Amino acid sequence: MSLLRIYDEKGRLLKELTDPEEIAKELEKLGVLFERWQANRPLSKDATDEEVIKAYEDEIKRLIERYGFKSYDVVSLTPDHPKKKELREKFIKEHTHSDFEVRYFVEGDGVFYLHPDDKVYVLHCTAGDLISVPPNTKHWFDMGENPSFRCIRLFTTPEGWKAEFTGSGIEERFPKYEEIVR
Ligand SMILES: [Fe+2]
Repeated sequence: MSLLRIYDEKGRLLKELTDPEEIAKELEKLGVLFERWQANRPLSKDATDEEVIKAYEDEIKRLIERYGFKSYDVVSLTPDHPKKKELREKFIKEHTHSDFEVRYFVEGDGVFYLHPDDKVYVLHCTAGDLISVPPNTKHWFDMGENPSFRCIRLFTTPEGWKAEFTGSGIEERFPKYEEIVR
């Protein structure tokens, strides 16, 4: 189930939403795209990346036409990844980049923290959720101690992906993956 929690910058909870339509409406105000997708064919757990792309080709095509994405791929992370700790620690720090951050969760989950204004929007993405973080929006991501997800990513430029860390330390004031996902 998708979940959006809105906090002030001190980490005080202001609002909580679970209805995908209400979540989409709230995030739209920030220029953040949130959608629920459905595969156009059944997908097994061991589907290849090509099969995953095929299953969502209409949705991918729609986003390419709308936003001009140049490429896409499928990325997976499993709890046995040898660098899971380093990966978690990198993306859990507040940063920006000049490209969109577009993720569609084919399987598994993760928590996005968006900091576009004086509030922090904490979104737990689960299978079927698409999120697009606009360029240059401050954000961070927590995959948890035992990351498990398979995502489709879309890119406009290969260079746009370099993270610029803000060094604000704001992430310390917010609940981590394990506290959000219960
Ligand atoms: Fe990012």
